[in-house]
Amino acid sequence: STVDGADRYEITQRETVLEILPGVKTPLWTYNGTFPGPTIEARRDRPVIVTHHNELPVPTVVHLHGGRTPPESDGYPTDLVLPDGWQDPMPGMHGMHGMQMPAMSDPRAVVTRQTRDYTFPMAQRPAMLWYHDHRMDFTAPAIWRGLAGLHIIRDDAEESLGLPAGPRELPLAIMDRAFDDHGNLAYPALDPTLREQPGVHEPYLAGVLGDVILVNGAPWPVHEVDAARYRLRFLNTSNARHYELEAVTYDGRRLDLVQIGADQGLLAAPVTHQSLPMAPAERYDVVADFSGVPVGSLVTIVNRLGSGRTHDVMAFRVARRAADDSRVPTVLSNDLPSWNRSDAARVRDFSFRAGRMNGGHGWLIGGQPFNPTRTDVTVGLGDVEVWRLIADVQHPVHLHLAGFRVLSRGGKPPLPHDAGLKDTISLQPGESAEIITCFDGYRGRYLFHCHNAEHEDMGMMANIEIV
Ligand code: C2O
Ligand code: CU
Ligand code: CU
Repeated sequence: STVDGADRYEITQRETVLEILPGVKTPLWTYNGTFPGPTIEARRDRPVIVTHHNELPVPTVVHLHGGRTPPESDGYPTDLVLPDGWQDPMPGMHGMHGMQMPAMSDPRAVVTRQTRDYTFPMAQRPAMLWYHDHRMDFTAPAIWRGLAGLHIIRDDAEESLGLPAGPRELPLAIMDRAFDDHGNLAYPALDPTLREQPGVHEPYLAGVLGDVILVNGAPWPVHEVDAARYRLRFLNTSNARHYELEAVTYDGRRLDLVQIGADQGLLAAPVTHQSLPMAPAERYDVVADFSGVPVGSLVTIVNRLGSGRTHDVMAFRVARRAADDSRVPTVLSNDLPSWNRSDAARVRDFSFRAGRMNGGHGWLIGGQPFNPTRTDVTVGLGDVEVWRLIADVQHPVHLHLAGFRVLSRGGKPPLPHDAGLKDTISLQPGESAEIITCFDGYRGRYLFHCHNAEHEDMGMMANIEIV
């Protein structure tokens, strides 16, 4: 419904039992009983107000990933919505910092009971965003249990381009999960073959992986398509798994993946890829053309980085010939920011490395674990800055509020898949990269962090104060 020019949504966070694997009942934490949550459809410059009700047994907080959102609605990890009857602290609840409810020691936290309104101005480029839980120390298990959903912003300019639309536009949220023998989600997945890095014994340290690939909540789905162009809007909502996606025909040919958009909306011009690497939280907006594929045959989306059960992601079955008046224009957008190095008020360096935290292993930014009461970076509203990021192992680094461009990787020009405006950059082991951004929009407290969800919970997050 529309009140005062804003679109309003109600979402109840509750436990729901769903059938994900055939014939198996799996208890999940859901937004409105679905997995993923309901997709929010928004128009550029028209505010969206989402009222969230927490009927889960734990505190929650919602963040709109990729949103240009005022700080009070950005889902700061201590701005908790407490469930009915929550005691403080709740016995037996320990986060990754080993403390009970560390969130409660943040004097700036705005804590509510049972319900909270989140207001999203939507004054930003059309893009596919997603919303997910962001509770301090508990984000990874909350997303794993189901607390994630899509949020798509559209505008007239994008709709007039003639891109594949309607049933030929498919948002595809890809994630891996592990299940135990009873159908419950296994967290962490204790199967040692699922660990990202050999020699890592802590069950969470490298990030939690699963051996079942889900797309929009269904395992390895097969989707019927026309022999026509489709807009495939990929999002990696996995906690820790990286993919490299390819579209392979039944006779082993690779279909071009024509990238039209990145995390923060359309590119200036299309970029054609044979395969696309995708780290947790990244989005790739892609057009694939099924018109040259024989009717009745399959095109499989595979993950080159996976093996066995994690190799295939999903498939398209080309069901029929059909008319197609869609197009991919050679110019997609002309409103991308044109920041240059010479515009930068400051250059900063941040390391993303393993280290000691509370006597155990943690993941640190600049040698420190996350602390909500410490300001790590102070930036001026409207300042352009260059940030140099350096990683020990793979870290997908995400910045709240401000979209950025990749300036360099390992001292070289960015890679083809770095094109466009991003909010998450996948740092490779030992790599340093530079990003450029402008901190405009709102004053207040924001975050940057690793989007390997376990790394985030284990300390790899820091505060930005925009003044
Ligand atoms: Cu998708 Cu701060 O998160
Ligand atoms: Cu975010
Ligand atoms: Cu990381």
